[in-house]
Amino acid sequence: MQVHVVDHPLVAHKLTVLREATTDSPTFRRLTEELVTLLAYEATREVRVEATDITTPVAPTTGVRLTSPAPLVVPILRAGLGMLEGMQRLLPTAEVGFLGMIRNEETLKAETYAERLPEDLSGRQCYLLDPMLATGGTLAMAIDFLVRRGIDHITAVTLLAAPEGVRRLEKELEHVDVPVTIVTAAIDERLDENGYIVPGLGDAGDRLYGVV
Ligand code: URA
Repeated sequence: MQVHVVDHPLVAHKLTVLREATTDSPTFRRLTEELVTLLAYEATREVRVEATDITTPVAPTTGVRLTSPAPLVVPILRAGLGMLEGMQRLLPTAEVGFLGMIRNEETLKAETYAERLPEDLSGRQCYLLDPMLATGGTLAMAIDFLVRRGIDHITAVTLLAAPEGVRRLEKELEHVDVPVTIVTAAIDERLDENGYIVPGLGDAGDRLYGVV
């Protein structure tokens, strides 16, 4: 597993405003989309392309196009939905699937409650969207689920990660032999006793949608 922290002043600026407790939901949603678009630029560095012949108004030349089938983007419900538009801005032809996973607040473990994905996932590249890599339970479960369904290249885009979650993912994915990359805007200090990232930004779902 590779972890890529995107080091860019615009990413740092937008993340700082997202973290601030006084940032309201509409601003939080807009900044999340903008931040994801910046992260998506890095996250798609290995998106599969193929050579293609084209003709410009001046001369024939060769270029590249995304290979078919298009990559699959999978937001993890609910908070991952707030990242979808930002990702689609760079990958408008991507197919979109949905995975509903929720953290059991007592056990802090991830549970699946919904799944809407194309039938055949074999050989597909996938971009998983989940704003907070906290304990790592949700992402570990989602990645395992997708690999079992045939996905052979996974990039998870998160706004923030906790060192505990990164370590757990590394351990749990040792047996997974497809490439997995985590792209994030920052790795924070730690998790608190409630499983929140510190300093973090609070509950991403609540801040995106303004309700619990
Ligand atoms: N999920 C969140 O939304 N925030 C955290 O800090 C941890 C998990």
